[in-house]
Amino acid sequence: MSANFAKVVMERCAALGQISDEPSRLTRTFASPAMHRANRLVGAWMRQAGMKTRTDAIGNLIGHYRGRKPGAKILLLGSHLDTVRQAGKFDGPLGVILAISCIEKLHRQEVRLPFAIEVVGFADEEGVRYQTACLGSKVLAGCFDARDLRRKDANGIALADAIKRFGGIPTKLPSARLHPKNLLGYVEVHIEQGPVLEQKNLAVGVVTAIAGQSRFKISFTGCAGHAGTVPMNLRRDALCAAAEFIVAVESFARKTNGLVATIGQIHAEPGASNVIPGVATLTLDVRHAKDPVRLAGCMALQKLARRIAGTRKIMVIWRPVQQTASVPCSPQFSRRLRRAVQSHQREVAALPSGAGHDAAMMARITPAAMLFVRCQGGVSHHPDESVRSADVRVAFEVVNSFLQRLAADYP
Ligand code: GLV
Ligand code: MN
Ligand code: MN
Repeated sequence: MSANFAKVVMERCAALGQISDEPSRLTRTFASPAMHRANRLVGAWMRQAGMKTRTDAIGNLIGHYRGRKPGAKILLLGSHLDTVRQAGKFDGPLGVILAISCIEKLHRQEVRLPFAIEVVGFADEEGVRYQTACLGSKVLAGCFDARDLRRKDANGIALADAIKRFGGIPTKLPSARLHPKNLLGYVEVHIEQGPVLEQKNLAVGVVTAIAGQSRFKISFTGCAGHAGTVPMNLRRDALCAAAEFIVAVESFARKTNGLVATIGQIHAEPGASNVIPGVATLTLDVRHAKDPVRLAGCMALQKLARRIAGTRKIMVIWRPVQQTASVPCSPQFSRRLRRAVQSHQREVAALPSGAGHDAAMMARITPAAMLFVRCQGGVSHHPDESVRSADVRVAFEVVNSFLQRLAADYP
């Protein structure tokens, strides 16, 4: 029976993977037309599984499966429905769709648990459109910063307007928060996005902590000029400064154990083949499991940018965009998850997450735990992202066992 559920999860991930803002690749960003269609489809699956659905003020899709008694506490399950650009099908959607299948099983068996369950499809975890991640879970956790409403996307659309166009209500974001006293905890199933489970030949693993991350927007400003007439020794080429910085970031991160640093976007202005770039703007993403190492690394990289810019007579502006501390998963909930894993797998792997997750925000208000599912080659944020149906089946069984155990222990 669980093989059938796993098959449905795989089919639904594939169907959702077709819902994109771009014709030839999967890109589904916050509050976009594709997110509308995705919420509609996933909402229908939630209702089919016996849940009542709602969309909150920022666009999180929430399905409620009531507990045995009215007023019971709520266990949250879920992940995000937005994607990166040119994404794979599983980062985010797997956790939402698998949770829906777990509820569908309860619903078909007409089982009510002593607690209610809400499955959340978060509206934004990747932060692609507004360069700040986890907008959906920040709202539910009550830590959304209202100043972010003024942020503009690449087309100049303010976040507040994007929310309104999507059908949300920016002024109601504070009241969309969930109250800790009503919650039991949060459990997120997610692909590992790394190679550890594959190396250990295990289908699933339990996450110990989520690494902290810092994101910056950095601009180098020099002087634009004629590509044919300005001699090389008189140039103040902003893109060359940025290029030197990019390589320096890579070698710094390679020398710092456990630190990862990525420049994922770069933009040169004015942007013509015969014009020396006057401005180069780039993003920097720095992560480490230990916050002091990450923070020291960020300071060192800022100094490096200043030094490189200084020697080239270039101005540098360093803007922090987002900082999140590393977050340990709840020991109590993780222990329960480990016990559930034990009944379905020979060994329980415990591993940290280098990727950010909605669980990091939810941990601020309720015990949060995560289950990772092996993904092929550890590939993620790429169309080749792939998971095996047999592993999805193990994850499905683990979550079911977890729910049964939690129900048995519920006071
Ligand atoms: C989300 O996938 C992130 O870690 O950037
Ligand atoms: Mn991701
Ligand atoms: Mn994700």
